[in-house]
Amino acid sequence: SPEPPATGVLAGRRLVITAGPTREPIDPVRYISNHSSGKMGYAIARAAAAAGARVLLVSGPVNLPAPEGVEVRPVVTAEDMLRASERAVTEGCDVFIATAAVADYRPENCAGDKIKKTSEAMSLALVRNPDTLATIAARPDAPFTVGFAAETTDVARYATDKMQRKKLNMIVANDVSAPGLGFNSDQNAVTVFWPEGQESIGPDSKQAIAERLVTLIASHSDRIEN
Ligand code: CTP
Ligand code: CA
Repeated sequence: SPEPPATGVLAGRRLVITAGPTREPIDPVRYISNHSSGKMGYAIARAAAAAGARVLLVSGPVNLPAPEGVEVRPVVTAEDMLRASERAVTEGCDVFIATAAVADYRPENCAGDKIKKTSEAMSLALVRNPDTLATIAARPDAPFTVGFAAETTDVARYATDKMQRKKLNMIVANDVSAPGLGFNSDQNAVTVFWPEGQESIGPDSKQAIAERLVTLIASHSDRIEN
């Protein structure tokens, strides 16, 4: 693959981006997941690579091609995503961006054989998954961390709460109650929060929003590290 350009607002920076859904197996043929398309994370990866960054995408199962010049490490479960992200950050990372829609819970046990339809009702015991973003942000060598928050109400309050709770440098809030935006759409509108300010972007294409996010992340991560 071609060398990244030496110029651009992220020249020489190493980015790790999580994207897409995770899948949590119930038995050999079934899983729990969500409707995340991965489009926002892949758009940011593309924009960051175009801005000169070395980009590694830790990606759940999606139907998207690897963006030009971006290394994709495919994962399936939330536990896989944590392991792959920790490895990628240990290899060297200046900015960590978590766009993935990680399943909050997984089945307590994955049945070894296909579960048979034997009763009128069934219940599934679920246990909490590890939080990749919070784990990376809590490291002593934490990179500049950017989270996403998909909310339907009290967007600003929930998003800034998440930023503080997970000790993030920035959070991108998505109002998923807006029709035709967000999950699975090519369009989005977001509000970005950092400790001293905020900026609303869009409605616009996910690629245009990704380009503005990359500019904001570049200037704020500079401020932290220099
Ligand atoms: N995230 C993560 N690992 C998880 C859950 C979330 O890395 N197990 C990341 C997401 O990629 C996102 C951010 O944390 O960047 C916020 O995710 P969100 O689902 O909005 O927040 P949660 O902390 O899971 O809280 P809740 O779903 O209850 O609102
Ligand atoms: Ca969640």
